[in-house]
Amino acid sequence: MGKKHYSVGLWDIKTMFKCSVVMFLIGGLVTLSFYYRNNNQEAINSKDKVTLSTMTTSKITNDDENTNRITITKTNKRVFDHQRRLKLAPLSLTDTCDLFSGRWVHDNNSHYPLYKEDECPYLLGDLACLTYGRKDSKYQQWRWQPHGCDFPRFDGKAIVERLKGKRLLFIGDSVNRNQWDSMMCMLHSSIPGKKKVSLGGTLNNTLYTFRAIVSPKFPFAPSALLHLLPQKSFFSFKLCDQLVIDTTQDYNISIDYYWAPMLVESNGDDPSNHRLDHRIIRIKAIEKHARHWVDADILVFNTYLWWKLPIIKLLKSPGSLLGGPNQVYDEIDNLRAYKKVLETWSKWVHIHIDPAKTKMFFMGLTATHSRAKDWGGKKHGSCYNETEPVMEDGFWESGTNQQMLQILESLLSKLKAKGVNVQLINITQLTQYRKDAHPSVHRKLWSPLTDAQKKNPESVSDCTHWCLPGVPDIWNELLLAYIFPINPPTNK
Ligand SMILES: *[C@@H]1O[C@H](CO)[C@@H](O)[C@H](O)[C@H]1NC(C)=O
Ligand SMILES: *[C@@H]1O[C@H](CO)[C@@H](O)[C@H](O)[C@H]1NC(C)=O
Ligand SMILES: *[C@@H]1O[C@H](CO)[C@@H](O)[C@H](O)[C@H]1NC(C)=O
Ligand SMILES: *[C@@H]1O[C@H](CO)[C@@H](O)[C@H](O)[C@H]1NC(C)=O
Ligand SMILES: *[C@@H]1O[C@H](CO)[C@@H](O)[C@H](O)[C@H]1NC(C)=O
Repeated sequence: MGKKHYSVGLWDIKTMFKCSVVMFLIGGLVTLSFYYRNNNQEAINSKDKVTLSTMTTSKITNDDENTNRITITKTNKRVFDHQRRLKLAPLSLTDTCDLFSGRWVHDNNSHYPLYKEDECPYLLGDLACLTYGRKDSKYQQWRWQPHGCDFPRFDGKAIVERLKGKRLLFIGDSVNRNQWDSMMCMLHSSIPGKKKVSLGGTLNNTLYTFRAIVSPKFPFAPSALLHLLPQKSFFSFKLCDQLVIDTTQDYNISIDYYWAPMLVESNGDDPSNHRLDHRIIRIKAIEKHARHWVDADILVFNTYLWWKLPIIKLLKSPGSLLGGPNQVYDEIDNLRAYKKVLETWSKWVHIHIDPAKTKMFFMGLTATHSRAKDWGGKKHGSCYNETEPVMEDGFWESGTNQQMLQILESLLSKLKAKGVNVQLINITQLTQYRKDAHPSVHRKLWSPLTDAQKKNPESVSDCTHWCLPGVPDIWNELLLAYIFPINPPTNK
């Protein structure tokens, strides 16, 4: 299956590159703004302002007079949390119901789609399937129905309220970027009032930044921003409202995306220019990317598609991952490499992330519907021209590697045993059914199709990514159900 798959990846990246070049400057503004934020972060569940910042903590040791007051604040917080748990337990839906076991129900009276394709300014053409000629829109109308319970509807207004002042960071490959796009569209449509939108660009082709502001003003002068830009592949979306004088009206939400398709350093790290025919990584080198992840309130990881080539090269020599005469490497099979990289990642998480401050999630593997034979379709068919999900319970397409899911699950439970909870958002099964939900040929093309390709559209179909609005919106609803597992108290 390899080939088709990777050419899609290339197209994806180049599209991103093209778009971002244009929008370089404004982009800079954005990323900066979250660098300016101080580290005051409250526990995500608590809307009440209990400031327990790193700064106050250091004051405790230096300033005797403040000790009492600060200790009291801390104690209060604990009591508060304790009380809340007592009061609200066991209301958490995610504790009592398996949200990932269920079926798709067509429901054209439901609240899907959550937004309209042409009302979302972040789709950049590549996921906006109707714009690129898709004629059917039924794929937008499916509701995920867990077997054991009802799934909470996305309540945009409540979610933006609860995300105020938070930074949500997606890290991973282009499927995670797909989900980040979806999250931006969902939140964008939930912000009331007039909106002005800026799409931002790149620094050295590696930094991508997006921002939506409710007002036309930027918070910082461009010159102050540019030299603070990180070197890597950042994408950011920030919601704020500079015009509203009452600061409680300011959303100040950052929705960011960091391109790290294999989490550790790899020859895929340049989002616009990377080799697709082989993978070479430094299996233990994660810090260069990961240092940009530490100050988020919510981290959402994925990594999967790039591990599907059977052999992964582990670079042993110093020097560039991009080649050179003296490269020394071991070749190992992809499953062993996947396990090793997750070990590197979990070590990093264990050391650097405080689970009390930062919620962490790992997205499950997603299906790629490139073999129609899997569902009894045409011999050389793919997701091309598919307009209905597979309805057979437990359907599994042959490209999804069950072993990789098991490796991921086992790593996450080892982490949990050490007290670090990274919640698996187990979307693997629910994506299996949705052969109808990929862009196939309804996407921006990097180069015009040749005659041979036109005759054989199956071969140029993108069956990896997902049309928006669509399936990733449901992933985000599930994610949000875990980020905010209990409903806010009705009276404050
Ligand atoms: C809704 O779906 C049903 C069949 O599932 C169809 O008969 C009906 O025409 C649809 N309504 C709209 C407004 O699309
Ligand atoms: C945005 O929220 C952060 C906390 O996450 C806070 O430190 C910062 O001051 C806020 N910015 C504005 C402009 O309100
Ligand atoms: C851009 O890339 C060049 C060469 O790769 C490097 O020397 C320079 O420091 C980079 N600049 C920034 C701002 O990343
Ligand atoms: C696409 O599907 C429709 C109905 O399922 C069928 O009539 C048509 O021939 C298909 N087109 C191609 C090119 O396979
Ligand atoms: C995730 O989903 C798969 C497929 O439905 C299932 O086999 C597995 O047990 C689930 N894992 C967890 C941790 O729930």
